[in-house]
Amino acid sequence: MVKDYPDLCPINNNDFGMKAAIYERYGAPEVVQVKNVPQPVPGANDLLIRIYATSVSSGDARIRRADPFAARLVFGLFKPKRPILGYTFSGVVAATGAGVTHFKSGDEVFGSTDMTMGAHAEYLCLPENGVVIPKPAQLSHEEAACLPFGAHTALHYLQLANIQPGQKVLIFGASGAVGTAAVQIARIMGAQVTGVCSTANLELVRSLGADEVLDYTNPAHTPAPESFGVVYETVNKTPLEACFSPLKKGGKLILGAALLKGMIAGHFNGMLQGKKVLAGVALNDLPKLRRISEWATEGRLKVVIDKTYSIEEIAEAHRLVDSGRKRGAVAVRV
Ligand SMILES: NC(=O)c1ccc[n+]([C@@H]2O[C@H](COP(=O)([O-])OP(=O)(O)OC[C@H]3O[C@@H](n4cnc5c(N)ncnc54)[C@H](OP(=O)(O)O)[C@@H]3O)[C@@H](O)[C@H]2O)c1
Repeated sequence: MVKDYPDLCPINNNDFGMKAAIYERYGAPEVVQVKNVPQPVPGANDLLIRIYATSVSSGDARIRRADPFAARLVFGLFKPKRPILGYTFSGVVAATGAGVTHFKSGDEVFGSTDMTMGAHAEYLCLPENGVVIPKPAQLSHEEAACLPFGAHTALHYLQLANIQPGQKVLIFGASGAVGTAAVQIARIMGAQVTGVCSTANLELVRSLGADEVLDYTNPAHTPAPESFGVVYETVNKTPLEACFSPLKKGGKLILGAALLKGMIAGHFNGMLQGKKVLAGVALNDLPKLRRISEWATEGRLKVVIDKTYSIEEIAEAHRLVDSGRKRGAVAVRV
């Protein structure tokens, strides 16, 4: 038994299985139900992780809805191939395979599963060389579980845009999971940051260090034309012309949430206007996870959590994410 975690089960206990949030068809939040399923069994190089917290991200909600329809080509044409969602987790190593050398039972860890998902459950198996590192003691399990989705994505794109100290960066969707991280990371990189959000979130975005905040519901707050070196649209809600207009000639537009049609339109318009468009999938990796973990440990990168649910309430968590209005991330305690 590991101190501080008396409920930790160090062996696979398939007689009793584990609790997991399962979705067996695509659809509304109600398709997600908590059921008892067999625990995963670690291979020689795997960690068996007892998950204490996870997050329902906008990515999870989109896969659950099969949005866009083409997502079915990856996640299952007629029904989900992998019935447990969940990209990010924080928990404790419950057991290790015989070949594992860098972790031991009782280690507090957090990270990301990437496309294999499966973190909306009590237990998860991950290779020890996966995107998993020690959890900073300063962060709760909820904070650690909510850190990677937004911060990893924001760091990926801000590195791709090669942000320079003093550069003016405009961030649309500054109050979402990606946006709250992007505001802080762009500031850490030395940029002068303007965040765009609704009236209710102006104070939140200012508190994260934005030099200026603009209210997208107020026409007087339209960003000045051709005045930013980088524009980062994080939520796929801003019309393309409103993204290009504030961007200087030669500047970079990050379309971090665009679908294929939006990316093609973005690249075409960018070519015509002499502005570069960055888009695509933000993959998770260990160097980025280590970087955001250091910043969080130093208190320079804060995790914004809108609400925390229990695993039994996970359909409610999906409902909040589907609203498109969450502030930061949504945590789930397992
Ligand atoms: N490319 C990749 O690999 C990748 C990786 C991760 C995520 N993503 C995508 O990135 C997107 C963002 O994820 P997220 O979790 O950050 O989103 P999110 O948290 O669901 O975004 C919600 C936020 O969007 C704001 N918002 C809504 N309409 C807005 C508008 N017109 N202008 C500005 N802000 C607006 C809301 O604030 P208000 O209530 O103030 O409007 C709310 O705070 C998702 O579509 C996700 O699928 C892509």
